[in-house]
Amino acid sequence: MSGEKVWVFDTTLRDGEQVPGCQLNTQEKIEVAKQLETLGVDIIEAGFPISSPGDFQSVRAISKAVKEPIVCGLTRAVLKDIDVAVDALKYAKRPRIHTGIGASDFHIKHKFNSTREDVIERGVRAVKYAKKFIEDIEFYAEDAGRADNEFLARMIEAVIAAGATVVNIPDTTGYCLPHQYGEKIKYLKDNVSNIHKAIISVHCHNDLGMATANTIAGVMNGARQVEVTINGIGERAGNTSLEEVAMVLKTHQMGYHTRINSQKIYPLSMLVSKMMRMPIQPNKAIVGRNAFAHSSGIHQDGVLKNRDNYEIIAPETVGVPKNSIILTARSGRHALKYHLERLGYTQTPKELSETYEKFLVMADGKKDVTDDDLIEIMQGTSKTGSIGLEHLQVTCGESLTPTATVHLKMGVEIKKASAIGNGPFNAACIAIDTILQDQIDLEDYLVQSNINRSYDTAKVHVKVRHNNKSYVGFGVHEDIVTASVYAYLDAINKITALTVHIPIEEEKVEEASV
Ligand code: KIV
Ligand code: ZN
Repeated sequence: MSGEKVWVFDTTLRDGEQVPGCQLNTQEKIEVAKQLETLGVDIIEAGFPISSPGDFQSVRAISKAVKEPIVCGLTRAVLKDIDVAVDALKYAKRPRIHTGIGASDFHIKHKFNSTREDVIERGVRAVKYAKKFIEDIEFYAEDAGRADNEFLARMIEAVIAAGATVVNIPDTTGYCLPHQYGEKIKYLKDNVSNIHKAIISVHCHNDLGMATANTIAGVMNGARQVEVTINGIGERAGNTSLEEVAMVLKTHQMGYHTRINSQKIYPLSMLVSKMMRMPIQPNKAIVGRNAFAHSSGIHQDGVLKNRDNYEIIAPETVGVPKNSIILTARSGRHALKYHLERLGYTQTPKELSETYEKFLVMADGKKDVTDDDLIEIMQGTSKTGSIGLEHLQVTCGESLTPTATVHLKMGVEIKKASAIGNGPFNAACIAIDTILQDQIDLEDYLVQSNINRSYDTAKVHVKVRHNNKSYVGFGVHEDIVTASVYAYLDAINKITALTVHIPIEEEKVEEASV
């Protein structure tokens, strides 16, 4: 590795997880954190401990689960927040507190109803207090992108004097242009007298599509830590994407290096997309399904002559399988286990045997088994206490009234209903709502198709609303309506406040009202 080190600070589990409806449970967060460790990130921002008991638990569990990376907890510049974060981080081998306050006049006036001097004082107090418990303190100057540079420099100098080891300059609203953001970082390098005592960190949002460009501009002007998320997930237009920054720094010889093992990028991107039910746009740089696809005749011809004609990164460098055909009927359990783990599914030997049987049935009926097929097999494996699809029949057509009959497996019971709707999926949703006797609103519905030589699959993402909360679901199947119903049930299975009872003891079959 040559050049200066750039520290990679991953905030997928904090800023990334703030996307409405995409929350992960503690177990899922641990799985992502372990994969981030394998990927080689230096810092994992594991959550905002005071925000909820779930976040507190996750920060604590991740602190125990990873060894190498620094584990970081977010706080406001509020002493109580810091107490809770210190407690959540108590098992971390290398803990970090990330505390801060608004730096732009917008935030100072309209968020804190305060003054410039007061926010500096509050920031300094928070850093000094956190420093009593933990050595490694990062300070964020929220909305630094829109802050006055002279004031920002004073704030940063004061918090470094108070003990901050890293200073984060967030472009919270994604407002800056790359040259402006780069100049801001340079201004701080040139005008903060004690800046050599801290690492400058860049944290950008993508509201104008500038997050990666701004982050790189920051590095080129002196920042040595980048704050990123897998697939660029995050509120609104998202955060800077880890894979883009890591591959820019690897592809261009700019005199910097990171510890990222680029071959782990694609599997982790798939895992995060699957767990958060967040589809990746097909043309997303590095990890989108078209990122390495050459479709025009001229490009295909050029790539066949020499890949370098049209590829600046070999797909294998970021862990994209050489082609999408991954398994056949002749593959053994070992190969299946390998590919399931690559997609984020860990199975006991007994579960693997059951999955292998299903795999063989599928592999027998088709030439190639793809990642989408494996996801389809896995979603059929419903967990105890969840609602599964037992049977679905729909009729629809030009002059027919769309009708659906649904049988749901609810624990040990099968419940049935039929309904009409304005389309077959709508009819199926009404039938499901009839069985559950609950009000579930479909908020968002996205169908993507994946067509390969032997098989077509539909991938469906939905967002539903129940009791003022949103839940997301994902389904995949060769039939669009079935994929849609799988996605709808996947979201429903996350609704903890569902009133329906799922019996787990006696076997019963009962007809619900039609
Ligand atoms: O965007 C932002 O300003 C943040 C801070 C809390 C670091 O996420
Ligand atoms: Zn942010």
